[in-house]
Amino acid sequence: MTPLFSVQPFFVASYNRYDVVIMEESLFQGINVCYGVVIIRRGLFRDTLPFTIYPHKIRLSLIVLFTKRIAVRKQEMLILENVEAEGISMTEQTNGRLPKNPEPLWREDMDIPEYTPLEEHIETDVVVVGAGITGLTSAYLLAKEGLNVTVLEAGRILNGTTGHTTAKITAQHGLIYDELIQNVGQSQARLYYEANKEALDFIKETVNEDKIECDFKEQDAYLYATTERSASKIEKEYEAYQKLRIGGDLGDQLPFSIQVSRTLRMKSQAQFHPLRYLSQLAEQVKKNGGNMYEQTTAVNIDKQDGKRIVHTRNEKRVTADFVLVCSHFPFYEGSAFYSARMYADRSYILGVKTKHPYPGGMYLSVDQPNRSLRSAQLHGEEIVLIGGESHKTGQGKDTMKHYQALEKFGQDVFEMKDIAYRWSAQDLTTLDKLPYIGELSPGEDRVLIATGFRKWGMTNGTAAALMFRDLVLGKKSPYVEVFSPSRFNVHPSLKNFLVENGDVAKHLMKGKLDVPDRRPEDVAKGEGKIVSIKGHRKGAYRDENGELFVVDTTCTHVGCEVEWNSGDCTWDCPCHGSRFSYKGDVIEGPAEKPLQQHDHTIFDNFTSEDSGY
Ligand SMILES: Cc1cc2nc3c(=O)[nH]c(=O)nc-3n(C[C@H](O)[C@H](O)[C@H](O)COP(=O)(O)OP(=O)(O)OC[C@H]3O[C@@H](n4cnc5c(N)ncnc54)[C@H](O)[C@@H]3O)c2cc1C
Ligand code: FES
Repeated sequence: MTPLFSVQPFFVASYNRYDVVIMEESLFQGINVCYGVVIIRRGLFRDTLPFTIYPHKIRLSLIVLFTKRIAVRKQEMLILENVEAEGISMTEQTNGRLPKNPEPLWREDMDIPEYTPLEEHIETDVVVVGAGITGLTSAYLLAKEGLNVTVLEAGRILNGTTGHTTAKITAQHGLIYDELIQNVGQSQARLYYEANKEALDFIKETVNEDKIECDFKEQDAYLYATTERSASKIEKEYEAYQKLRIGGDLGDQLPFSIQVSRTLRMKSQAQFHPLRYLSQLAEQVKKNGGNMYEQTTAVNIDKQDGKRIVHTRNEKRVTADFVLVCSHFPFYEGSAFYSARMYADRSYILGVKTKHPYPGGMYLSVDQPNRSLRSAQLHGEEIVLIGGESHKTGQGKDTMKHYQALEKFGQDVFEMKDIAYRWSAQDLTTLDKLPYIGELSPGEDRVLIATGFRKWGMTNGTAAALMFRDLVLGKKSPYVEVFSPSRFNVHPSLKNFLVENGDVAKHLMKGKLDVPDRRPEDVAKGEGKIVSIKGHRKGAYRDENGELFVVDTTCTHVGCEVEWNSGDCTWDCPCHGSRFSYKGDVIEGPAEKPLQQHDHTIFDNFTSEDSGY
């Protein structure tokens, strides 16, 4: 079907039964249109994205186009009235179907317990910083052992990466085992599998024992290849499964209209509703005498009389025997340089309703752009989760394009009725792809960290919590060596260290020199752009009411230049993945301080009084 034209609206208003969409320059049947007013039935317009008008199905009432014929260079008005009678109409909009705001399905109808901020100095046995799957599972296990546990959460519990996950619980982590055998050897690769398998079994047992209603369901997990080249990678991965005694079988079909060359199944994995499961664990922490504090940001750790003291932003102290750093990116790095040893990678997810039932199973493509599939239940209705489009944070160009690519995939593979949710999130990958779980730095056995789960934190985060329990209780854990944060596996780590830090250096060098011609007045409503103000590089976002918010674009972590993320309306840092709201507030670290309004440079990060360096 040939579209009549593509509309890039910059203003939408609703009157009675109609939406009035004013659009920017576009092409209408070969005529160059400067401005246009499209009046359509109310509700059809759902987003400030371009959408395509096709000559059938949905009825239009009126289109007024102000045209500029390039040849005659003259403006004229073209009014198409009663277009319905003339047969001009519109399909459901491709891009207009995406929900306006990013919102994960998991928080829908959830009654997540709320906690007050910490307002006094306290003592405790173990302080856990961060209330995602790692922190809450650790707190649950240790409180159950009779220890006095305190959880500090900077925002609301379960609103970090865990609240934005896909929640497959599996030890099938993409193509990994063949690579691990090559890089760290067969026994370490086997230990990685065992730690994740144990975590899966633990979640299953906890759901059964505590009778947690969280839609836990056993599912087979599949990797699939769509090219011959990646088919051979799957076959090598299958050989690695055999060497490591991991159950799996090869196939060459999927129950979808996707042309596949090879599949690899790992049987009896699982999926669940992560927030239903974890909010129950949070309640158990309270029941077992634990303390939970929200809106309490940990900013530093020091030592006194053999104890560790966590300092919070509101100048409270928590004195403890052990500190568990479960803040996703470690809020405290000590001298361990985690920033230089990890990178953040973002992915996108759509929650869609389909005409036909989902056949079951959890799927992940091994080709790029990657695709991930599973289903979930909400209000008795099936929602298919379509994920993918990974890219390094802050390096994804126009992030809405990633949602549109998933929408196109969804349209090709399923008959989609509706796109109910869209959201995105990021996770951290280490140099050798194994998480960092254990002592913050060699010999610091009272401060334990867990990070770098490479988008497999349902099991890796749970495995970290099980290991923390053993270490705090003075027991041995078989996984200390494989996850040790101070390991340095020379072959992959050295190369990746140079690549990652070369990438950071590139972004640092680019710095302030890259000043565009664009000015704040060129930023339309709903847009965020890098602009020039008095010759200085700034970030400007104009909200739907026309108010302009300007921030300095130098990240307050080390000093790379942030980029606009149009999908989430945030400023994202390409170096270590810090994210800031359009006003500059920190959404995700490692940065601790907001983007500045005044001119700020990389040097200010190191020299200002409160720089923290
Ligand atoms: C798109 C996407 C899909 C994924 N899908 C899967 C999947 O299907 N299966 C799977 O196994 N894994 C998946 N993952 C990975 C998994 O979701 C994460 O690895 C996991 O949720 C990380 O949990 P966490 O507890 O370490 O971090 P988080 O959930 O981010 O929790 C950290 C918490 O610490 C808090 N915090 C941060 N700094 C401070 C501070 N200074 N003081 C106090 N609190 C602080 C944060 O506010 C946050 O609440 C996915 C990841 C992404 C991005
Ligand atoms: S997150 Fe490190 S420089 Fe921005």
